[in-house]
Amino acid sequence: MKRRSGKQDSSARDGQRTGRPQRKKAEPSRWGLKRGLLVLFVVFILVPVSYIMLPELIQHFVYTHRVRVPFFVDLSRPADLSLNHTINMYLTSEEGISLGVWYTVPESRWKEAQGKDLPWYENALSDGSPVFIYLHGNTGTRAATHRVGVAKVLSALGYHVLVPDYRGFGDSTGEPTEAGLTTDALCVYNWVKARSGNSLVVFWGHSLGTGVSTNTAVKMVQQGVVFDGVILEGAFNSARQKIPINPFFWYYWKFPGVGYLFKEPWAENKVVFPTEENLKKMKSPILFLHSEDDHMVPLPIVQQMYEVAASAQTTERVKLVTFEGSLGYLHNGLYRDPRLPDIIKRFVLSL
Ligand SMILES: *[C@@H]1O[C@H](CO)[C@@H](O)[C@H](O)[C@H]1NC(C)=O
Repeated sequence: MKRRSGKQDSSARDGQRTGRPQRKKAEPSRWGLKRGLLVLFVVFILVPVSYIMLPELIQHFVYTHRVRVPFFVDLSRPADLSLNHTINMYLTSEEGISLGVWYTVPESRWKEAQGKDLPWYENALSDGSPVFIYLHGNTGTRAATHRVGVAKVLSALGYHVLVPDYRGFGDSTGEPTEAGLTTDALCVYNWVKARSGNSLVVFWGHSLGTGVSTNTAVKMVQQGVVFDGVILEGAFNSARQKIPINPFFWYYWKFPGVGYLFKEPWAENKVVFPTEENLKKMKSPILFLHSEDDHMVPLPIVQQMYEVAASAQTTERVKLVTFEGSLGYLHNGLYRDPRLPDIIKRFVLSL
């Protein structure tokens, strides 16, 4: 985004230059000073003020859904990422909201799946294999490496995997809101349940997606529906963490004065994700996965959440598996762990 506006600036300047008679160039040092002041103005005044004034900006900073990483992926061609047993499809979450979704069948069926259409995939969903709905974190699309990585692990284990882009992300339409993301998750769940017979349906939330998963689980509990299982990878706790999930929030720590201006950034802007409260109400078996070197969510935070969930249910139904910091998985990378398939398989067998 920044780069693009930079380009616009320079082309505007070029336009001025060609449009007007040539003037003498300003002294380089004065130009440098002006620039410095401009940067200070933007960093300390313009951005914070916009931040308070414009809820839309908050939305962008929380979800960073417009940042389409990876950049050069055609979302209609999952096979380009060697997901050759995957179909790209679109579900209507509510009127005017279309969600792009990748649906991958178990790897054992990859040959059979070549060239098949949506009805074949829909039919495959009732083959008795567990079905995973993967709710991804903020920034980027369903094609991000670590998301594809999880889909491959699950598919190799013999599970179906659905990976939606929430509204406003990837090629999905609309704008993200906390309630909207819940609606999107339920849309995928209902689509699956209408086709999956008696198969297990498990949610896997990552980062922001853990907030969406627990919001969705609680909403369904209130309607008398309990999800078969919920995996929470890199779960955050907005109530106890001063530093929320978005990389942009380096602002809070780098500039203490700025942090003072927004004491309750989450609540004020209706971005709540009350995961801890949700965990008290949930009735599904839960598996927390967390890397000890997670730089977004420190381990003690997830240990607290584990305690909350385990005392609301039992230690039989709530598990926490951690990965040593020396492995370098940070916030996104634990899909690479060779022990992961076994951990997931054991959880699924316990359901
Ligand atoms: C398709 O995917 C499967 C599973 O990942 C892989 O084993 C196979 O080699 C792939 N086939 C082709 C033709 O790319």
